[in-house]
Amino acid sequence: MRVLLVTDTHLAAEAADAVSNWQSVRGFAAQAGADLTIHLGDITRDAWSAQNELAFAASIAAEWPTPLLFLPGNHDIGDNPPGPDVAYKQPLSLDHLGLYRGLFGPDYWTHEVTTEEQQWLFIGINAQLFATGTDEETAHWSWLESACDGARGRPVAIFSHKPLYQNAIDEEPPHIRYVPTAPRRRLASLLDRIDCRLFLSGHTHQFYDRVSGGTRHIWVPSSAYRFADEMQEKIGEKIVGVGLLELGGNKGPQGFRFDLVCPQGLTQFERTIEKH
Ligand SMILES: [Fe+2]
Repeated sequence: MRVLLVTDTHLAAEAADAVSNWQSVRGFAAQAGADLTIHLGDITRDAWSAQNELAFAASIAAEWPTPLLFLPGNHDIGDNPPGPDVAYKQPLSLDHLGLYRGLFGPDYWTHEVTTEEQQWLFIGINAQLFATGTDEETAHWSWLESACDGARGRPVAIFSHKPLYQNAIDEEPPHIRYVPTAPRRRLASLLDRIDCRLFLSGHTHQFYDRVSGGTRHIWVPSSAYRFADEMQEKIGEKIVGVGLLELGGNKGPQGFRFDLVCPQGLTQFERTIEKH
């Protein structure tokens, strides 16, 4: 079972570089023999400001060589408040969320994967709902608790737009890069009840891979562009690429293998501060 992970594609009709890299990833999905593709969010350049980008992204994702599961990102439906006294620009838009669901399907989901050795449960969460205080957030928590109860000892992989944290659950201060502090603790206590092997996220435009609390946390980099150091703190590796997750076939004690891949034709675009 081979799963292609793609994130932060930032598609828009005018974003020729992002569209070009998206076409390269499509070629790779077919060539690599992927069984499934999972998009970890920020599908659009910034639909929060230009809502028609959602329909554009859905139209060019329509012809894809594998089944495709999506999660929304902050640029698709808006963001969550990271914590007290931390500025953020684009609050969650329920209007965008409704449009997203119509075009891309559920914004949170489970997906069962059976290999010769194991049955895996994939849980895709909508990290943008955390700490929004909406009915949608309440419904998401009750669904998530049921999903974790349904794991029943199976190995679980979590898919999320935002990383849970950088290195430690109690790290401060809160930052828009991560799941906000209060829901982070609640989510971590839910994950403690299950065999959570893997937590895969997008959002950061960097590759970062480490084990924390018995779970492997991997930041999948953007397939569209990376940020220059003058624009963004360097934490992991700044690279443009995709992830390839393989399950089954004697993958060692964790039961999976993850590879960072820079497919042929994918350009290492870099976002810099324009100098005048
Ligand atoms: Fe994001």
